[in-house]
Amino acid sequence: MVVNQVCKQILLKMRNHISWQYDEFKQVGRDYGSKAEVDVYDSSHADFRDIEAESDRVLDVLKIGSTDTLIDFGSGTGVFAIQAARRCSKVYAVDVSQAMLALASTRAGQAGVSNIEFHHAGFLTYEHGDRPVDAIVTTFAFHHLPDFWKGIALQRMNYMLQPGGQLYIHDVIMDANDALANISAFVQKQAAAGGDFLREDAEGHFREEYSTYDWVMDGLLARSGFTVRSKHIDDGVLGTYLCAKN
Ligand SMILES: C[S@@+](CC[C@H](N)C(=O)[O-])C[C@H]1O[C@@H](n2cnc3c(N)ncnc32)[C@H](O)[C@@H]1O
Repeated sequence: MVVNQVCKQILLKMRNHISWQYDEFKQVGRDYGSKAEVDVYDSSHADFRDIEAESDRVLDVLKIGSTDTLIDFGSGTGVFAIQAARRCSKVYAVDVSQAMLALASTRAGQAGVSNIEFHHAGFLTYEHGDRPVDAIVTTFAFHHLPDFWKGIALQRMNYMLQPGGQLYIHDVIMDANDALANISAFVQKQAAAGGDFLREDAEGHFREEYSTYDWVMDGLLARSGFTVRSKHIDDGVLGTYLCAKN
C-alpha cells in the first residue's frame, strides 16, 4: 500500500487528533477496565490455556534474543511481557486498561524485572518514540478493533517495526468454511473447560466483539506491508499469524 506523507503523519500521531476516531479506550465485551475482571483473568484463562507456556513458545518462534526490543499490544496481566523481558533488552507493554497495567507493573516489580515500559494507550493511540522494534506481539486483543481500524492499526505497527521485523498475532479469527458450526463447537468446548464463566465469555465474544474472517485478516496484512510466513486456524476459530514487515 502506498501511504502519502499526510496520511503517514496522521497515522503516527493519532492520540487526541481525529474527532471521528474509534474510541479504543471504551471496552467492548468483558470490561477489562474493571479491577474485578482483572483479578479473575488469569485463573479463568487457566481453564483453557497455559499463558506462561504459550508465552515461551511465542518467544521461541520469534527467536527473541538479548538485544531485541518488542511491543506487546493488549498486554493484559503482564505474563507475556514479563517472560519476554527476561529474554530481551526492552519490552513496551501497551494496554488501554489502567487496572491491567497496574497489576502487570506490580507483578513485574515482584519478579525483579525492570526493562518493561508500560503505556496507557492502544493499537490506535500508542506513539512509539524509540527506535523501531524487532517484534510486535498481540494475543487475544486485536479483536477489540472493528476491521477498518484493524487496517489502520496494522499500518501503524508496520511503521514501528524494523525492516524485516516480525509481527505475531494470536486471536479468535474465523475460517470462512463452516464458521457457524465451528463457533458453536468452540462455545461448547469453552463451557466444558470453564463452566458458565467461559461459556458466557465465548458467547459474548461472538455477539459483541470484532473477530473477523481469516481472508479479511490476510488482505489487511498484505495491504499493510506484511508477508505472512505462517498461519494456522485451530478448530476453525483460533488464528495464529507469524508475519514479517516487507
Ligand atoms: C483478552 S485480554 C488479552 C491479554 C493478554 N494479551 C493475553 O493474551 O492474555 C485483552 C486485553 O486487551 C486490552 N485492549 C482492549 N482494547 C485494546 C486496544 N485497542 N489496544 C490495546 N489493548 C487493548 C484489554 O484492556 C485487555 O487487557
